[in-house]
Amino acid sequence: MGGATGEDLAGRTVVYGITGGIAAYKAPMVVRGLKALGVDVHTVMTEAATHFVTPLTLQTVSGRAVCTELFSGLSPDAHEVEHIALADRADLLLIAPATADFMAKMALGLADDLLSCVALATKAPILVCPSMNVNMYNHPATRKNIEVLKERGVHFLEPASGELACGWEGAGRLPEPPRIVAEAKRHLYQKDLAGISMVITCGPTAEDIDPVRFITNRSSGKMGAALVEAACVRGANVKVVSGPVATEYAPWAEVVMVRSAEAMLDAVTEGLKGTDVLIMAAAVADYTPASYRSSKIKKKDRLTAVELKSTADILSTIKPLKRDAFFVGFAAETENLSDSARQKLVSKGLDMIVANRVGEAGSGFASDTNSGLILVGPGVLDTFEHLEKEALAHKILDYIRERV
Ligand code: CTP
Repeated sequence: MGGATGEDLAGRTVVYGITGGIAAYKAPMVVRGLKALGVDVHTVMTEAATHFVTPLTLQTVSGRAVCTELFSGLSPDAHEVEHIALADRADLLLIAPATADFMAKMALGLADDLLSCVALATKAPILVCPSMNVNMYNHPATRKNIEVLKERGVHFLEPASGELACGWEGAGRLPEPPRIVAEAKRHLYQKDLAGISMVITCGPTAEDIDPVRFITNRSSGKMGAALVEAACVRGANVKVVSGPVATEYAPWAEVVMVRSAEAMLDAVTEGLKGTDVLIMAAAVADYTPASYRSSKIKKKDRLTAVELKSTADILSTIKPLKRDAFFVGFAAETENLSDSARQKLVSKGLDMIVANRVGEAGSGFASDTNSGLILVGPGVLDTFEHLEKEALAHKILDYIRERV
């Protein structure tokens, strides 16, 4: 079965297995997160799991009957053998939480309940999220079982460390539902960008005047973060160079946080080695204070102006050093979108530019959607209106993939 490309996960099926650990209380939130992606969720619970969370809860949030029994009589589709039908229907088998006992069964190939039968019969990728007492997790038997399963191609999301429900401290906590959903999402995508290395710059830069004050802009980093996540789930190797933002980046990317335009230039220059694509989604300051005052400027200083100097243009500086890479710029414009973007495409030597309208509702800085156009040469390649930044990110990556 192929994975999804672009942003479209609708029509994909996750068979979600829950085994009997206390962290099963997080399972309904995992189902909700999966449903929010547009995927169809079929939940399978072991008998032990039903002691921690009820099938009725899972049925309500998934919108589907929950399967708990290997021999439950006839399946809703009378011609189907239930465990095989579930195994075949899955685009991903997610097991969270996975107990030590269940992983041991998987490693041995036992199939004495519905979920272990599905795990043995499915050809879909399997993502296992272990959760248990730290000593059970670190026991040589469990470590060996995990190793065996990894060798067979089973994917794992490592447990987090911290205080465990049993009172011990250490590794064994089930990661929070959004993290599990993100990992599941990654396994549903085709890796059409595998083997491609990207540097993606995000957010604003901050140009310090004194230890208290700085000049910045309205960039939130949302467009950059959407590109980072989309590139990662499609298999690209992504390095992020980000100005100061509150936005979190996808956990699979390497992130370098910087502050000023000068620091961003240094980090991009460093990160560009061996890179195939540079996407400059950052809103880099064009001006920085001519000098930095190391002590706070006081009211009594009666400051009336801050002298500024130009920053280096990162794209124009770097392009001559890395001619073999594919360069994508962004243009934030309030007017003459197409002409201004085309001018930047040519003057900065870009391969592609994404121009978006700023200063209007539903587009530009801090918005969840964007409106604008994409240029690769003299003509307009595509236009978009109030498109979700996630969808726009996939569209941009589709065009890049066709060209690298
Ligand atoms: N850019 C850059 N270095 C700078 C300023 C901008 O590499 N010092 C990049 C941005 O990351 C973006 C593209 O250049 O990808 C266009 O940025 P934008 O701010 O729209 O244009 P400017 O070149 O700064 O021109 P202007 O502000 O006059 O529109």
